[in-house]
Amino acid sequence: MAGLVFYCRPGFENDTANEVQEKATEQGIHGYVQAKPNEGYITFNCHQASDADVLARGLKLDELIFARQLVCFTAFVENMDVKDRIDPIVGQLDDFPECGDLIVESADSNSGRELVKFCRQFTVPLRNALRKSRHLCGFENEMQPVMHVFFVKTDAAYIGYSYRENSSPYLQGILRLRSPSEAPSRSTLKLDEAFRVLLPEEQKEQQFSGAHAVDLGACPGGWTYQLVRRGMFVQAVDNGAMATELMESGQVQHYAEDGFKFAPKKKNVEWLVCDMIEKPHRVAKLMAEWFEKKWCHQAIFNLKLPMKQRYQCVLECLEIIDDILSSKSMNYQYRVKQLYHDRDEVTVYLWRCRKAK
Ligand SMILES: C[S@@+](CC[C@H](N)C(=O)[O-])C[C@H]1O[C@@H](n2cnc3c(N)ncnc32)[C@H](O)[C@@H]1O
Repeated sequence: MAGLVFYCRPGFENDTANEVQEKATEQGIHGYVQAKPNEGYITFNCHQASDADVLARGLKLDELIFARQLVCFTAFVENMDVKDRIDPIVGQLDDFPECGDLIVESADSNSGRELVKFCRQFTVPLRNALRKSRHLCGFENEMQPVMHVFFVKTDAAYIGYSYRENSSPYLQGILRLRSPSEAPSRSTLKLDEAFRVLLPEEQKEQQFSGAHAVDLGACPGGWTYQLVRRGMFVQAVDNGAMATELMESGQVQHYAEDGFKFAPKKKNVEWLVCDMIEKPHRVAKLMAEWFEKKWCHQAIFNLKLPMKQRYQCVLECLEIIDDILSSKSMNYQYRVKQLYHDRDEVTVYLWRCRKAK
């Protein structure tokens, strides 16, 4: 038995399954998905065991919308004696690559949450045993894959590994951020996470300070707050009221206007961000039009997905963007992800690039 486990937000198992099945087929790899509602993970079971490793390298986590983590599993151990869960796990590792680190974790679901404390406590004794049996390097080695033991029940776990260059470095694939007490809303975490997770490494190096930004649907100002704290000057567009402290920063101008009709006053906008609660197709079209008119260079926006066929809807939105921008022969790229701080929505980072696509 071999395949991949994908962690996702509980409730999004179907979307993750549809996406993974489609991407695996594109890679010519055949298997079947197992997914149960609200479990916070799905598995893709390969018909040929050797395909699991091929998929773990070929399917890029950065390009998956709904998956938070991707682990190649080689075994599923069930009915373990809870007095000794180490031996049955070590007994499954005959053809396992030598790993540089170990993560013991569970899903971000109701049942998974009950296992968190156990996983934390179990890590040290398991790590010691794996070092002794030489399945784990004697020190943390960043050149080697990371071993994952993913508990789904107290006596059942998937045993697998991930490649560092194609996995999330965070426990459960989740970057946990603390909401700054002075931020006007908890939505602030969505944009903070987007900047930290969606931007490719080279884009993270860019100079934010002094850049001009537009925030469509800005009130009360959680996203504007993230732009301001990065030193940007923000045109905040919304009919609602902005938090007073943000306005006192001197970096924000408030426009009580319709975000669909707003046009920037000067051609100096680097960043467009948008968190308007609106139909996703409409938002996608608006974002593409800003790029078409060369009103901004980079954008981060949310697509709200209250419907059932969420994966299909995101694909339609991306098609709208592709149609508009490729008809103008624009060089652009995007990354789309359901972030940890997103709810029924995904976040898109869209940027104009200098090199040909
Ligand atoms: C989810 S809230 C934004 C929260 C904000 N990003 C934050 O972090 O505080 C959505 C906002 O979009 C605004 N909005 C919805 N439709 C809009 C439109 N057509 N033009 C401007 N703002 C709009 C609403 O007034 C609301 O304040």
